[in-house]
Amino acid sequence: MISTLFISCLLAICAFTSASASSLASSASTATATTTENKIAKTCTLRPLGHGRDDTDQVEAAIAKCGHFGHTIFAPGEYNITRKMTWDLVESTVDLHGYLNFKPDIQYWLQPENTYRVIFIQNQASWFVLTGHSFTLNAHNTGGIIGNGQSWWSYFATRAREDGDGRPVALTLSNVTRGIVKGFRIEGQPFWCNAVADSREVVYEGMVCNCDE
Ligand SMILES: *[C@@H]1O[C@H](CO)[C@@H](O)[C@H](O)[C@H]1NC(C)=O
Ligand SMILES: *[C@@H]1O[C@H](CO)[C@@H](O)[C@H](O)[C@H]1NC(C)=O
Repeated sequence: MISTLFISCLLAICAFTSASASSLASSASTATATTTENKIAKTCTLRPLGHGRDDTDQVEAAIAKCGHFGHTIFAPGEYNITRKMTWDLVESTVDLHGYLNFKPDIQYWLQPENTYRVIFIQNQASWFVLTGHSFTLNAHNTGGIIGNGQSWWSYFATRAREDGDGRPVALTLSNVTRGIVKGFRIEGQPFWCNAVADSREVVYEGMVCNCDE
């Protein structure tokens, strides 16, 4: 068990380091500041529906409405996410004060159709993909992803682990240009914490990957 935890954390650090290598902080922040002054017109605000309810529809609806030239504000709390999700963000700000809690249903996520395959290196699976350009996703150190990792580590403690076996990467950026991810916490990633694919000018600032649930 302990060795499994170490592997998850080490991979998280590797992915994190390679992502920050391609950062261009100053030009990206300038772009966002301009957006705030001139273009942001729409604001979407949402809060968790509460225990036993599924938040996936309302999260997707908010991003569909305000993810382009808009501002999306998630109130604190846990959002119950029950299927794979892509956020297409263009000239957009998202304040995520709460957590996206990806349901702990290992058999569901391991079905190939229930994740994306946008990381072509080792063909890894992703349950949450950010794409687009000129956006800031700020989780203010009070939000991010709950991955329910312990159930995954326990499950895989007695099973073979292989590249591309369907264990989902918690946060994947794919085809992003000028994206900033700030104060984002990942609690209990099932597998790699994060990955960046086919992207440029990506900045991570103050990211936490925590294997200790
Ligand atoms: C999440 O939503 C599903 C319904 O799709 C529900 O069965 C489950 O209990 C909810 N989970 C939480 C933690 O609220
Ligand atoms: C990548 O994003 C650009 C726009 O930002 C889009 O035109 C292009 O089709 C995307 N490529 C892929 C492979 O999705």
